[in-house]
Amino acid sequence: MGFSTDAVHGGQQAEPVTGAVMTPIFQTSTYKQDGLGKHRGYEYARTQNPTREAYERNVAVLEKAKHGIAFASGLSAIAAVMHLFKEGDEIVITENVYGGTYRLAENILRERGLRFAFVDTTDLNAVKGSLTPKTKLVFVETPTNPILRVTDIAAISALAHSRGALCAVDNTFMSPYFQNPLELGADIVVHSATKFLNGHSDMVGGIVVTNDVDIADKLRFIQNAVGAVPGPFDCWLALRGTKTLALRMRQHEANARYLAAYLSRHPAVVKIYYPGLESHPEHELAKRQARGFGGIVSIDIGSLARARHVLEHVRLFTLAESLGGVESLICHPATMTHASVPEEFRDRIGITEGLVRLSVGIEDVEDLEADVKQALAF
Ligand SMILES: Cc1ncc(COP(=O)(O)O)c(C=O)c1O
Repeated sequence: MGFSTDAVHGGQQAEPVTGAVMTPIFQTSTYKQDGLGKHRGYEYARTQNPTREAYERNVAVLEKAKHGIAFASGLSAIAAVMHLFKEGDEIVITENVYGGTYRLAENILRERGLRFAFVDTTDLNAVKGSLTPKTKLVFVETPTNPILRVTDIAAISALAHSRGALCAVDNTFMSPYFQNPLELGADIVVHSATKFLNGHSDMVGGIVVTNDVDIADKLRFIQNAVGAVPGPFDCWLALRGTKTLALRMRQHEANARYLAAYLSRHPAVVKIYYPGLESHPEHELAKRQARGFGGIVSIDIGSLARARHVLEHVRLFTLAESLGGVESLICHPATMTHASVPEEFRDRIGITEGLVRLSVGIEDVEDLEADVKQALAF
């Protein structure tokens, strides 16, 4: 089926007892058992929940995956992937990952024996040079948050496989509407469902998908054993969100393209990052491996003072962490989303004090343009 049909129907069925068309919120922690050792497939809600399962099946269909495993946040989804590995294993990871992913790797997992090599994964030779016999995973975020660098998923997956390693992709920025990393050769895809999948800024969640049954079984074991599961209401909100993913992504992108074109001509903008612009270093790659360029645009306006002015003068854009909701948000990565990344590391990858990230919502683009225009009038 087409993407929009799958978004509405993929993995969904009417609820068997009442015929409810939409999977209800199964707000229960446990299930009655019919006799000792006799249950109906549901024992305890950390282990199984019908609302969660409907949501997991739906996202799996959208990502062309056989298995979906949901978690309480994007970071707990990433942590679950990292739990597949053990002390001494090496993981090559995109240097400009989301700040929380960096913090998880550096401040939690490194202390427990996993080794991380932060590498510019847009550079195939750099990745090649960092692989060792102990490398078990190449973890790629593409496009990256907030600089929007694009990594060649097919090339990196093939390289990882040639050395016996897996490839995982954080597909949060593209969503399955624009990009399906498993079809390009990746083994695992993770999402912060908090962002485009849910799309309404009203829950926090994460999800992992894969076609590999062994990986899926291990992740399900981790889901239950560690217990970082999303509640049924959050699963329901995410599932409600995915049904309109196609409509929202089209509008996010149309608005982002328009604003990126406007901002690229604006004299106050020193640098602009958007894969849809021909000036973007990986524009051709982005065109080849994805079906669109997404709804996030970052601009460097030269100084903290100017960034502060814009962040404090927008009227329609809201100054806030997060992205991917229907409403337009604006943030300052250096002090907000990427504050846990050390300053010299931030500077090297372009997260300067003048950098501002826009999550372009689905409002009327003329209103968004007018807002940015008045905020950029110094
Ligand atoms: C690309 C990316 N991955 C992962 C995460 C973490 O997700 P969550 O905030 O749902 O834990 C974020 C959050 O901003 C993100 O932008």
